[in-house]
Amino acid sequence: MDAFVPWSAIIASGLFILSLYWMSHPTTARRGVRAGEVGMLVAILGALVHHEVVSYDLILIAMVAGTAVGVPMALLMPMTAIPQRTAISHAFGALAVGLIGAAEYYKHARPEFAGGFVLWTLMFEMLLGFLTCTASVVAFGKLQELLPGKALVFPGQRIVNGGVALAALVVAVLIALDPTRTALFPLFVALALAFGVLLVIPIGGADMPTVIALLNSYAGLAASAMGFALGNKLLIVAGALDGASGFILAVIMCKAMNRSFANVMFGGFGAVAAGAAGGKDDRVVRSASAEEAAMQMENASSVVIIPGYGMAVSQAQHKVSELYQALTKKGVDVKFAIHPVAGRMPGHMNVLLAEANVPYEQLVELDDVNPDMPQTDVALIIGANDTINPAARDDPKCGIAGMPIIEADRAKSVFVIKRSMASGFAGVDNPIYFNSNTQMLFGDAKEMVGSIAKELAGGGSGLGH
Ligand code: TAP
Repeated sequence: MDAFVPWSAIIASGLFILSLYWMSHPTTARRGVRAGEVGMLVAILGALVHHEVVSYDLILIAMVAGTAVGVPMALLMPMTAIPQRTAISHAFGALAVGLIGAAEYYKHARPEFAGGFVLWTLMFEMLLGFLTCTASVVAFGKLQELLPGKALVFPGQRIVNGGVALAALVVAVLIALDPTRTALFPLFVALALAFGVLLVIPIGGADMPTVIALLNSYAGLAASAMGFALGNKLLIVAGALDGASGFILAVIMCKAMNRSFANVMFGGFGAVAAGAAGGKDDRVVRSASAEEAAMQMENASSVVIIPGYGMAVSQAQHKVSELYQALTKKGVDVKFAIHPVAGRMPGHMNVLLAEANVPYEQLVELDDVNPDMPQTDVALIIGANDTINPAARDDPKCGIAGMPIIEADRAKSVFVIKRSMASGFAGVDNPIYFNSNTQMLFGDAKEMVGSIAKELAGGGSGLGH
């Protein structure tokens, strides 16, 4: 059976690499997920048949407990809660890394290992593991609204953060140089755990997705380091893939949200200012009915649909697909403008629209669609808010100033589907609702889009009459 172990590592590594490759395109994404699942199964089997495993009792209990929690979590969790689910998974993964590191440390707490490669690696992976654990728990708490989403800042925060990080590093070095200093070990763990909390509390909810991608990267790096400490090649490869992909995703998201990556690294960002565009509300809001929207879209030659978080909440994607079909049948050119951080997770809109069989070729990215906006007859915004907020472009004092947006306001005519005048995720006022070319379609996205599609098909809905 031991002969299977190296093969399992090679097969699983290959499948993980293919998985990431296939997941980079929607048409092959399902295959990518399957490859990742099979890879993980092979990796687990490889670990189980290893000759060092002497008893299966505890492993079995852990597997049953993990399955009992994991399966309902996967089935019941709504897609809109994926960021916090990812955060809590990171917390558990990172805790496992930290605890295995601790067990290995106690095995190596002898003078002959002092200053050796294994100890340095263990200290590194435990530092990352423990800090990622508490940082992910705080990120989870903020996204699940168990903790205040606002950035928590206090005077001298950077000094305190820096001091705790430095203290953790110094204790780690002392232990690595003399592993028999076991009395210092609990202090090291406490400092690493505390640093994780301190790292994330000054970050506002709006920047949490980037933080989660970064924590993903940390967890991967920690696992990879553990692979070096344990001499486990599969862990090195899988951790490196996780670390690199999480890092790349964090960079892409920073760019999409116009956040400086250095700020993310040092946890000093995210105190998003309140919307500056405010003002007394003597501004005029025009509202329209589904029938009016249908009529205008029917007579348009180009319509750009901009979906956002609200489409995900109301699960309107199938109705959106019906609307797309109805307009296309009438010869209208329909495109979908996808903002990289629309919704609550990377690729959120792409996944939903793919699920509703909207052709992938009709999805256009921000940079490609913006130059065409002034020539677009109708921009239909479905539950998007921050990602189309012109204040980000025009008002340097606004909380999301500089974040690239889809310039829906430049279209000839704009329809916005949402339930109220409430702001979006970043809590910033949106002046687009008061523009003379904007008409509000107040209501739930699924119902409103369904009504427009019905009107186009000649059925009539009665909405807005
Ligand atoms: P948001 O700015 O969050 O706005 C969503 C809008 O949808 C709200 O204004 C809400 O208005 C409306 N809405 C909610 N439920 C609705 C329903 N059932 N029917 C119709 N409308 C509904 O959305 P966005 O433009 O997609 O921007 C995403 C934001 O989330 C960005 O700030 C981004 O930074 C952040 N974020 C992104 C991610 C990733 S990676 N995608 C992860 C976490 C956070 P009403 O309440 O008036 O209906």
